Amino acid sequence: MLSGKNIVMGVSGGIAVYKAVDVVSRLKKLNANIDIIMTKSAAEFVAPLTFQSISQNPVTVNIFNEPKQWKIEHISLAKKADVFLVAPATANIIGKVANGIADDMLSTTIMATRAKVIFAPAMNTNMYNNIIFKENMNKLKEHGYEFIKPGSGRLACGDIGEGKMAEPCDIVDYIIGSFNGNQLKGKKIIITAGPTIEPLDPVRYMTNYSSGKMGFALAKVAQQQGAEVTLISGPVNLEPPLGVEFIRINTTQEMFNAVGRYFDDCHVLIKAAAPLDYRPVSVSEHKIKKEKDEIELKFVKNPDIAAHFGKIKKKQIIIGFAAETENIIENARKKIDKKNLDFIVANNVLAENAGFKSDTNIVTIVDKNGSATDYPMMKKEDVARAIIDKISAMLNC
Ligand code: PMT
Repeated sequence: MLSGKNIVMGVSGGIAVYKAVDVVSRLKKLNANIDIIMTKSAAEFVAPLTFQSISQNPVTVNIFNEPKQWKIEHISLAKKADVFLVAPATANIIGKVANGIADDMLSTTIMATRAKVIFAPAMNTNMYNNIIFKENMNKLKEHGYEFIKPGSGRLACGDIGEGKMAEPCDIVDYIIGSFNGNQLKGKKIIITAGPTIEPLDPVRYMTNYSSGKMGFALAKVAQQQGAEVTLISGPVNLEPPLGVEFIRINTTQEMFNAVGRYFDDCHVLIKAAAPLDYRPVSVSEHKIKKEKDEIELKFVKNPDIAAHFGKIKKKQIIIGFAAETENIIENARKKIDKKNLDFIVANNVLAENAGFKSDTNIVTIVDKNGSATDYPMMKKEDVARAIIDKISAMLNC
């Protein structure tokens, strides 16, 4: 996937250096060529030999200790880089770059490169929240340097909070994304995902089987293509992709309201969520007792989000999904018209390896003009790629 790509990776000193080894291993498995520059303190945590063995390239630590095959090393590596990743990136290296300090191999090479530079910060929470660090980070962002947001949790120092280096798989996804043509740069995309829930009483609610996997895969791929993604999701057990604005809602009305806040400004709305069509007329104030053998609940219709925004849309592209169990294409075509969609992704939610919960899906994309294209069983991420490619083509023509 990354064949022929030259990634220069800076490794600065922090406990997360051990995770950087995994990043190199994953990039290598994707056939990237990786040249590593370590700071002296990084080399105190993990020996350069480890990185050398995994990257199968010489590792540079000292600016005055140039391996023979390079010319002026910091310049040749700076030029060689298609992407320059710094992981882990300490407050020190970020501070140096932000202030034009080039006093070792890593800072000098970053200063000399014209490649995209991506920092994966890792540091103590108080350091991460320190106003001076934030100023440095914001200054670099303004100059086009990119940052992979660190995670939160228990840090090596025992503190709990933000500052854990992003997980290797997320860093690698980000790098893959940085090579993916940025087809959606400057485009704002709203993606809805997951189920909604409708409370019945203080302890019970209705919902459906949506896991959010389809919508989250779309958000990840759209973000990798450079889009500004707002992901609006009902309750699911998934981590939102890095760099995506995440809005968690419960009910269909809340999803409707959230879409409404972003819609005017957006270019594309993708409705991969499975919102509940009905909600109870009233939510019981107290737990419904089980004294009677039968109870009756009355439901009222929820807003149809896709139909509402389909009606008021101006230039926005709206894509719907059709969760069908019979007459799939015919029903999907009806939904395009009813909701004024630009195309619809139909899936048979009774089929094996498709629809709710599974990691794969089997879809037919039905266009406004009625034509239908069948796709074989694919990972949801690959289905997302096909959808995002189609949207890019529509936006760019
Ligand atoms: O989340 P996963 O486990 O990965 O499963 C993926 C999925 C099966 C949920 C997904 O692929 C899918 O089919 N999503 C649409 C589910 C659905 O609500 O389908 P529908 O045919 O009932 O609705 C048609 C369209 O109208 C959908 O785009 C839906 O988001 C939208 N809708 C529906 C009801 C409503 N009140 N408002 C809406 O906007």
